[in-house]
Amino acid sequence: MKKICTRAYGKIILMGEHSVVYDKPAIALPFKAVAINVEIKNKQEKNIISIDNNLYDFNNLPSEFTGIKKMINLFLAEYTQNQKNFEMHITSTIPKQRGLGSSAAVSVAVIRGLCQFYKVNLSQKEFASLVHTAESIHHNNPSGIDTSVIMKEEALLFESRNKMSHFSTALEAYLVVADTGIMGNTSQAVNLVKSNIKRNNNYIKIIDDLGALTYRTYERLIRKDIEAVGNNMTTAHRLLSELGVSHKALDHLVETALNNQALGAKMTGSGLGGCMIALVKSQEDAEALKTKLESHGAIKTWSYRLKELES
Ligand code: PMV
Repeated sequence: MKKICTRAYGKIILMGEHSVVYDKPAIALPFKAVAINVEIKNKQEKNIISIDNNLYDFNNLPSEFTGIKKMINLFLAEYTQNQKNFEMHITSTIPKQRGLGSSAAVSVAVIRGLCQFYKVNLSQKEFASLVHTAESIHHNNPSGIDTSVIMKEEALLFESRNKMSHFSTALEAYLVVADTGIMGNTSQAVNLVKSNIKRNNNYIKIIDDLGALTYRTYERLIRKDIEAVGNNMTTAHRLLSELGVSHKALDHLVETALNNQALGAKMTGSGLGGCMIALVKSQEDAEALKTKLESHGAIKTWSYRLKELES
């Protein structure tokens, strides 16, 4: 049997991270500049798996891979007769724990690979449920937004795991994505928001404001009102900072972006580190901003043409 090769791309949350955990809407975009690649071939004796060139016996995976292990075991038990062993190699260009969807993308690429290897056809629901198993181990109450956008590879207005819609926008603008190089921690950030809300009811107002802002931003996106989308992004960053999930490195990159032609800027993903996104009008502005952000501490930058989301 020849080698199976599968891939899953990263994602960007344009707006609605954290509030989405409280049943508010969020806007998520596929981010194809980064990806997880999986290769699978037959192995005689036992299942082995390599992750970023570290080779493991599948049964002795380190604890940080508990989610993936549980998901694969579930897949093998539910959908195969375990009739053959695999050798799986997972490589990534998605930086880990930066809010770009690396953990969900690993799960999606792995399940895509296993489905081909064992010739299994899963429904979208079965597929998402397996990925959810792994994601639930990373933090115990995932909204499902990462899994959905990474599986679908299209721009989504996400309202819940059962309610989401694809949208198209011909916005002639660019997002600049900048990595602080600081690892965030989804579970810690989600728990921090939860304990802030428990301690002080005013935090719920921030969640409500983020939800309303996300709906307004969605309408502006569709109407191609780029200035309003930018302004709303900056407002979202302020609200997320008030929630307690920003980081001084993120605030600094947001500030730098706003001082250098960005129409708006915010953190993306769960925060406490990770990445910042800024909206600019042109490719020239994007290139100039990338250089500025790199001289202000970003360890990596990308530019993303939003016109790609037109379908
Ligand atoms: O995995 P991250 O860091 O992109 O965070 C996902 C978005 C959150 O809203 C913070 C969590 C969730 O489950 O939606």
